[in-house]
Amino acid sequence: MITLHRGDITTDAAADAIVNAANTSLLGGGGVDGAIHRAAGPELLAECRTLHGCATGDAKVTGGYRLPAAHVIHTVGPVYRDGRHGEPELLASCYRRSIEVAAENGCAHVAFPAVSAGVYGYPLAEAARIAVTTVQRALGDHPEVVEARFWLFGDAAYAAFDRALGATTA
Ligand code: AR6
Repeated sequence: MITLHRGDITTDAAADAIVNAANTSLLGGGGVDGAIHRAAGPELLAECRTLHGCATGDAKVTGGYRLPAAHVIHTVGPVYRDGRHGEPELLASCYRRSIEVAAENGCAHVAFPAVSAGVYGYPLAEAARIAVTTVQRALGDHPEVVEARFWLFGDAAYAAFDRALGATTA
């Protein structure tokens, strides 16, 4: 099941894990990454330091600390150039790996932001299409993960995901 939500992902009290749109250092940043670190508290950064970074397209898990969610799954999206430098495959890999890590950690409900669709510049419609189609397939492969909860900041992001979801269920 995929559900859409408006607003701040860090407020999600129904998720077992929140996915972070991080960078390869895993040492924090702006956007949703900054919001997650602020809400989780400094213990999150301390644990992230022990992970020694994360490759683009991969995902790693930590505790959630002061977040309502028990876990944070840090994934690193691609920086968008023109879509011909492996960006679609890398973005799909983020969602696939995040669901795999969620399954390994017993997380049934997982909250996602629109990975790469902010500072990393991925066009929203395409980012939403990849997110929805990849997550649908990954949920089928990992039935222990029952819900992907997409949190969208702003009307444009919400509309893009709503359209992408409509296109796959129509
Ligand atoms: N809740 C939900 N969505 C949010 C929130 C929030 N609190 N804050 C922002 N968004 P971005 P990226 C949306 O830039 O493109 C960081 O510095 C935002 O509107 O956070 O993957 C990292 O450290 C956008 O739609 O992530 C990396 O260096 C989406 O989340 C870099 O940014 C993703 O925007 C990663 O860039």
